[in-house]
Amino acid sequence: MTIVVPSGNTGRVRTARRVLWDRTIDSLDEYVSRRGGAGLGVARTRSAEELIVELEASGLRGRGGAGFPTGRKWRTMVENRSTTEATTVIVNGAEGEPGTFKDRSIIRRCPYHVIEGALIAALAVGADHIVFGLKHSFQREVVRMRAAIDEITAAGWAEGISMEVFEGPDEYLYGEETALLEAIDGRYPFPRLAPPFRRGVERHGRRATGKAVGSGVSSRVELAGPQEELIAPPALVDNVETLANVPRIMARGSGWFRTLGTEKSPGTITVTVTGASRRHGVAEVMMGTTLRKVIQMVGGGARRGHRIKGVLPGVANGIVPAELLDTPVTYEDMQAIGSGVGSGGFIVLDETVDMPALAAGVSRFLGVESCGQCTPCKLGGLELADALRTVSLSEAAEHHMQEVVTRSSTVSDRARCYLAHQHQVVMQSILGRYGHEFDAHVAGTTGPVEPYLIAELIDIEDGVAQLDERFLEKQPDWSFDELSTGKNPADRLGQNRFGEWSFRP
Ligand SMILES: Cc1cc2nc3c(=O)[nH]c(=O)nc-3n(C[C@H](O)[C@H](O)[C@H](O)COP(=O)(O)O)c2cc1C
Ligand code: SF4
Repeated sequence: MTIVVPSGNTGRVRTARRVLWDRTIDSLDEYVSRRGGAGLGVARTRSAEELIVELEASGLRGRGGAGFPTGRKWRTMVENRSTTEATTVIVNGAEGEPGTFKDRSIIRRCPYHVIEGALIAALAVGADHIVFGLKHSFQREVVRMRAAIDEITAAGWAEGISMEVFEGPDEYLYGEETALLEAIDGRYPFPRLAPPFRRGVERHGRRATGKAVGSGVSSRVELAGPQEELIAPPALVDNVETLANVPRIMARGSGWFRTLGTEKSPGTITVTVTGASRRHGVAEVMMGTTLRKVIQMVGGGARRGHRIKGVLPGVANGIVPAELLDTPVTYEDMQAIGSGVGSGGFIVLDETVDMPALAAGVSRFLGVESCGQCTPCKLGGLELADALRTVSLSEAAEHHMQEVVTRSSTVSDRARCYLAHQHQVVMQSILGRYGHEFDAHVAGTTGPVEPYLIAELIDIEDGVAQLDERFLEKQPDWSFDELSTGKNPADRLGQNRFGEWSFRP
């Protein structure tokens, strides 16, 4: 059911060392002995505007998936500041993209530079509270982060800025920035229409003022109006790796940051390689390294006696076929071939992989994880997954393929968030590049293949990735019951049941 289990052979990797430290940093003292804290020291001597200008000049782009310029985002936060409430900084450590394990790796080795980056962000956007959004199931990282926050606070680095770790649910959508804000507000992780710079979190506001402010009763609320804008302070949401880059940019300057990478994609990226490679692993590489080299360096290349057929960069971007493996891993080059960097999680596929079974696995993941606020995404997405399963099991008639093609083009209709677009992009790229494999299943010339398990990663140990196999039991209503109720997760809209999400059994 899983795509592949590698040999477990661990190899040495020569890579960059900017955010993924070469060893575990055990204490704040050790961090300081390695020049930790220098970025915050510099930041304290500069104005907010100077910090933002430096970040803009660095060209740093968000490492959570979309690659949005981080300096521009910080500026938008400042421009949308509330007149009455302070902004909140949210560190997105939800890490739910299948094939990605870099944020947890960064936190395990050194949580201090993530916290230092968040403190610098708070200075730049005028925030007085930071929330580290992790998952309840990431206990190792939760414990490490809390201990590091305590050390940093005791050392007086936080000065007027409070920090907390939030333990969120396992749902994939929890990583979507507005769903993350909903979860922090104590509701289910359903995406909002209002972006974070228009509507932040209410818990902080309540704590500061003694009354609830912020996002209102549910994610059904539409864009905040001018009145609400005043009482809904913006929240800056940045990914863990993005913020881990910030201290050194401040300490060494934007010019230093740009010494690696390309003009449009400066710096490094922390990649995860899993699937049909010799080993699985996480490493930091220069932006602009070719995908082939990344897979060779981090994953040891294809398994002995096998050849790479393609690479799936998570479930948010188009598949990369073998003939395009020499594409540099940059935002511009990956986009030019109809794919994307995403969160740097590359799932290697070899010639044994059946593409319709892969498509059926991806489609099931996105269909189940969809919240159901938009019918084409949830119902259409699940119908797409069912049709793909029928194809991969070689039980399909011609009309099933028509269903696949039609649903792939309508799944993102009127979509509130990007998950539905992901479904469309990945399906259309697999269909476009490997359509003949679908035809072979329908014609009966290829035997049945069960859909592959596409799920979040639990860990990578000794060069072997562990997929979250509990996903096999997850129902479209987000329960783990034997049967699905047939209801949408979003039917729970308006229920404020803080802490009662589907923490998995
Ligand atoms: C369905 C979905 C899941 C996402 N999951 C994550 C995640 O686990 N971690 C993350 O940092 N960003 C995730 N994102 C992207 C966030 O919405 C957001 O763009 C990001 O946190 C911004 O930080 P950055 O600019 O530093 O990348 C997800 C987006 C979508 C649509
Ligand atoms: S597009 Fe899908 S996941 Fe996003 S809000 Fe709509 S139903 Fe939910």
